[in-house]
Amino acid sequence: MEIEIEEILELDKFDILDPNLQSAEAADFERFLSGKVIGQDQALKALSEIFQVYRAGIAASGRPIGTLLFLGPTGTGKTKTVEAAAEVVFGTNAVIKIDCAEFQHPHEIAKLKGSPPGYLGHRETSPMLTQENLDRCHNDQNKLTFLLFDEIEKASDSLWNLLLAILDKGSLTLGDNRKVDFSRTIIIMTSNLGAREMQTLTSKKMGFISAQKEACTAEKIDQIALTAARKHFSPEFMNRIDKIAVFQTLSRQSMRKILLLELANVQARLLQSAQEKFHLQFSSDALALILNQGINTQYNARPLKRAVEKLVVLPLANMLSSSQLQTGDLIVVDSVTNKGLIFKRKREERAKADGANLLEQLITEIMKAKPATA
Ligand SMILES: Nc1ncnc2c1ncn2[C@@H]1O[C@H](COP(=O)(O)OP(=O)(O)OP(=O)(O)O)[C@@H](O)[C@H]1O
Ligand SMILES: [Mg+2]
Repeated sequence: MEIEIEEILELDKFDILDPNLQSAEAADFERFLSGKVIGQDQALKALSEIFQVYRAGIAASGRPIGTLLFLGPTGTGKTKTVEAAAEVVFGTNAVIKIDCAEFQHPHEIAKLKGSPPGYLGHRETSPMLTQENLDRCHNDQNKLTFLLFDEIEKASDSLWNLLLAILDKGSLTLGDNRKVDFSRTIIIMTSNLGAREMQTLTSKKMGFISAQKEACTAEKIDQIALTAARKHFSPEFMNRIDKIAVFQTLSRQSMRKILLLELANVQARLLQSAQEKFHLQFSSDALALILNQGINTQYNARPLKRAVEKLVVLPLANMLSSSQLQTGDLIVVDSVTNKGLIFKRKREERAKADGANLLEQLITEIMKAKPATA
């Protein structure tokens, strides 16, 4: 006998709920984050899911809200993602950041948890991991702390023990016996284990490659990162992690979006701090020239920032300080083959008539684009 689907669902007695429907707030969190971090959907999703559990108020007690491990090559946005998440939640990049390489010796661990009374330096400086420090950025809506352990593969044994204790019990006892509660903390750890191997894989792949090849490379990078992590870290540690996200080498298309974000930042800086307030506009040739100089398969987005400083910020600083620019001007940045960038000025009245504004142009372009894995 055939059973009707309505009978199984008992629609007359129950309402069917949608387990994938996010709150508007969590959806906004992911959307705003993807406007700041490009091409790393796996990590953004992992972070958004933890945020959603926290906002629903059902995070497990007696442990951190979530524990994430970010793996992947240098310059792909691991640290940026954590800072951007704090910016989305609090409006500032309020992250407690621990560079594991800097805490190698027992006296350096004391900078984190303080030393017992009577020890040298006991009262000199306040340790980093006090409850006040953790709670400093909380506001009425969000009692949440982002705690970042950068480059954990470089952690010394004593830092490692401290970290395991926090992950396990969600608390830490300071040198002076005060207890610190980490149950309102999202802990993110980063590592670029396996980076050299990943780089060999991707060094020839920059440029426009097929989506199929890109997916295959992404899968291989995932495998390299996870294998390296499993080899290096103890199962005891790996079992305490809620989610592992592998950051991918950035494609040319993602790098172009990051370039637009960097230029939008330059525009914002100019409007906030320069005495003469003017707008910038870039031709596609100019964008391509900056991108070509900033693209690098080894260091990903890092050289791009340097290219923007050298090719755009420094010339603008020169033009500003030699009084060549005035408020209201529109500066069109163009490129002529083999001649580098050229800067053309359109005076205020004509610029107004054009209604040109780079910030708006860039932000619409980035927002219009679907979250980029491309
Ligand atoms: N996916 C990305 N989206 C937007 N900006 C990015 C991205 N990746 C890198 N950047 C830019 O490059 C800079 C360096 O990135 P970030 O510090 O996050 O790299 P990382 O992955 O933490 O590298 P490392 O392993 O060396 O610490 C960031 O400040 C940001 O401006
Ligand atoms: Mg980093």
